[in-house]
Amino acid sequence: MEKIRNSSTSNAYSSHSVYSFNYIIYSSICLLLIISNANGFSHIIQLPTSGLFRNTPCPSKTVVFNINDFGAKGDGFTDDTKALEDVWKVACSLSSRAKIVIPAGNYYLVRPIDFTGHCKSNVTLRISGTIVSPRDPEIWEGLNIHRWLYFHGVKDLIIEGGGLIDGSGHEWWARSCKMNTSNHCTHAPTAVTFHKCKNLKVRNLTIVSSPQMHMAFTACVRVAASRLSILAPADSPNTDGIHISASKHVSLKNIIISTGDDCISIVSNSSRIRMKNIVCGPGHGISIGSLGKANSSAAVQDVRLDGAYLFNTENGLRIKTWQGGSGFARKITFQNVWMKNVSNPIIIDQYYCDSSVHCLNQTSSVSIDTVSFHHIRGTSATEVILLGSLRQKLRVDTPRSLHFI
Ligand SMILES: *[C@@H]1O[C@H](CO)[C@@H](O)[C@H](O)[C@H]1NC(C)=O
Ligand SMILES: *[C@@H]1O[C@H](CO)[C@@H](O)[C@H](O)[C@H]1NC(C)=O
Ligand SMILES: *[C@@H]1O[C@H](CO)[C@@H](O)[C@H](O)[C@H]1NC(C)=O
Ligand SMILES: *[C@@H]1O[C@H](CO)[C@@H](O)[C@H](O)[C@H]1NC(C)=O
Ligand SMILES: *[C@@H]1O[C@H](CO)[C@@H](O)[C@H](O)[C@H]1NC(C)=O
Ligand SMILES: *[C@@H]1O[C@H](CO)[C@@H](O)[C@H](O)[C@H]1NC(C)=O
Ligand SMILES: *[C@@H]1O[C@H](CO)[C@@H](O)[C@H](O)[C@H]1NC(C)=O
Repeated sequence: MEKIRNSSTSNAYSSHSVYSFNYIIYSSICLLLIISNANGFSHIIQLPTSGLFRNTPCPSKTVVFNINDFGAKGDGFTDDTKALEDVWKVACSLSSRAKIVIPAGNYYLVRPIDFTGHCKSNVTLRISGTIVSPRDPEIWEGLNIHRWLYFHGVKDLIIEGGGLIDGSGHEWWARSCKMNTSNHCTHAPTAVTFHKCKNLKVRNLTIVSSPQMHMAFTACVRVAASRLSILAPADSPNTDGIHISASKHVSLKNIIISTGDDCISIVSNSSRIRMKNIVCGPGHGISIGSLGKANSSAAVQDVRLDGAYLFNTENGLRIKTWQGGSGFARKITFQNVWMKNVSNPIIIDQYYCDSSVHCLNQTSSVSIDTVSFHHIRGTSATEVILLGSLRQKLRVDTPRSLHFI
């Protein structure tokens, strides 16, 4: 059995001050926010035991399942993977709406798990307690190293509840080749992945200490993520906050990210991405790309960030493409962004090269078109705010309202 810490906040982010600082910023930036939370469930049937759920006749009602009724201990020591798998299967196969409750005050140790879709029901996963990952990377032996909590092909899913998802990434970080070059370079799991999901709502959750990315949306359509806090140490390797790939109609709203890599990264074949009220720092800023690696084709368009506060980040707003790629990144708007102590506030780099081998000069590139920056202001840790490393196929609106002191 895997032994875990018994504190939910643990050593994920080295001090509580990070958390409370974020909270203060969040509170202040969110003064104008309308916190609307229409749950929409008019009828709720609470089933005390797991035996009564079958043949629920009325599809307009919600049947509630508690993970504890499926044998979960929630003590942080016992492996509760099977209980979560079982409750998911039952909820998913129901012919009415289903709600899975992960109750507050408990710690559910869960190994890598697939939440497979094609459900008959619409599921709400209400995480009010803590779901914690095994700390030992050996647990992944023989399993897909990219995944921990993996939702695949699920439609009309809601995840909420104010709880915590703890990726227990410390041992993975220590083994990273970015932390110690004598380590062998390997991948590490993304804490929560949504693949080919449709009509997804993820809100009111905290995700900490992922081994690698915290939350990824790949090939998803219609995603609304809001009121999330994502926290990992500034020196944790590759711990992107939210990663969006090949997804359309994604909205990210009221989100605080403090991590060791990009707060938000958006890559190939993504469109209609909306970001609003984002707090980022420390971290590597908000990034589109990298695009066009290994001569690949990319298509990113219609991306809008409106309202963000970035502080102590290594980069601000960034678009990066490799030489040799093709396709485009276009219709990209960044506006109403405050920055404090940000290095490289605005970067457009068409010669991106993150490889140990030297990147060859090539003629083709991903084109970058119609990018605008409005009302970007604050303090920069570097001297100049510049659009750097540009090729010819580029049209950027003359930055307006750029004020740095
Ligand atoms: C699930 O949600 C979709 C979209 O909101 C709705 O059309 C469908 O009827 C719902 N299904 C059930 C079983 O509640
Ligand atoms: C977030 O979840 C907690 C716990 O369920 C709840 O008390 C709180 O009202 C939720 N917050 C919002 C803004 O929905
Ligand atoms: C890196 O790993 C090597 C081999 O395990 C070890 O000897 C060395 O002390 C490590 N360096 C740091 C900075 O941790
Ligand atoms: C993006 O789309 C192009 C063209 O359809 C395809 O070749 C490429 O594999 C896609 N890339 C990703 C990451 O989905
Ligand atoms: C990309 O294309 C260039 C020019 O055709 C070629 O030299 C290079 O090897 C290709 N790179 C990859 C990773 O396929
Ligand atoms: C500015 O940000 C850097 C990280 O990019 C950090 O190391 C430094 O402490 C910050 N300075 C202040 C005054 O907060
Ligand atoms: C690639 O282009 C850069 C910038 O134009 C130039 O400095 C460099 O010498 C070129 N490298 C090769 C291998 O052609």
